[in-house]
Amino acid sequence: MSAPAGEERQGRSVLVTGGNRGIGLAIAKAFLANGDKVAVTYRSPSELPDGILGVVADVTDAASIDAAFTEVEAAHGPVEVLVANAGITKDTLLLRMSEDDFTSVVDTNLTGAFRVIKRASKGMIRLRKGRVVLISSVVGLYGSPGQINYAASKAGLVGIARSLTRELGSRGITANVVAPGFISTDMTAELPEETQKQYLSSIPANRFASAEEVANVVRWVASDEAAYISGAVIPVDGGLGMGH
Ligand SMILES: NC(=O)c1ccc[n+]([C@@H]2O[C@H](COP(=O)([O-])OP(=O)(O)OC[C@H]3O[C@@H](n4cnc5c(N)ncnc54)[C@H](OP(=O)(O)O)[C@@H]3O)[C@@H](O)[C@H]2O)c1
Repeated sequence: MSAPAGEERQGRSVLVTGGNRGIGLAIAKAFLANGDKVAVTYRSPSELPDGILGVVADVTDAASIDAAFTEVEAAHGPVEVLVANAGITKDTLLLRMSEDDFTSVVDTNLTGAFRVIKRASKGMIRLRKGRVVLISSVVGLYGSPGQINYAASKAGLVGIARSLTRELGSRGITANVVAPGFISTDMTAELPEETQKQYLSSIPANRFASAEEVANVVRWVASDEAAYISGAVIPVDGGLGMGH
């Protein structure tokens, strides 16, 4: 039975991939503050806040994902909320983009999400409940020069969420995409100042967002209050991608 409106069920087993920094860490903290049992995956040794379980996993490697899930399941029980957040960019214009630039970004951002969702789905089907949240980008549907690889990988997440909704929607499982715009993290700090200025001038909100503003939406779409939302693409972009 679901919790009464306005009240969130707590103590769920939550796993966030790439949760050691940036948006992923903000998402992990939001679930922790909600009273959930939170685990994050990381590749390089990282300091995590008290209360967050860190497990090593590379989303390009199915065996490491399996080992990470086994560790999380032993500590927190089957994963009920999965946030597929790990992602990379390798920006360059089409004519300079190598096939490896393309496939490595797709392997992390898109196939990586497929791998973790596949592993998580077994437990969710058994539980007859689950929340999958895929962290895409405004770029996935809006497009961006120099990001053909990244945009393709992020657009693909929409197809995953919608197909998953059609496959597993009747089992109490929802799958949604959250599409951030420009968020201040290590990933965006790498962009040239000129590019950052151009972005700013096209954002109706006239500012960049904090990682916490994305995290709050992710926490909500994974809550009981959002039980009837599935296959949706939820922008958190200050209006940048309106209509896309
Ligand atoms: N920042 C933005 O403006 C923005 C906008 C739209 C969408 N997004 C999306 O939001 C997500 C988080 O972005 P961010 O800005 O927080 O990025 P970030 O600060 O660069 O962090 C990326 C995270 O992904 C992890 N990761 C990368 N490759 C991985 C792999 N092969 N296996 C496991 N983990 C891996 C990293 O782990 P390590 O520390 O081990 O490298 C790190 O935790 C990404 O999917 C990104 O595309 C970001």
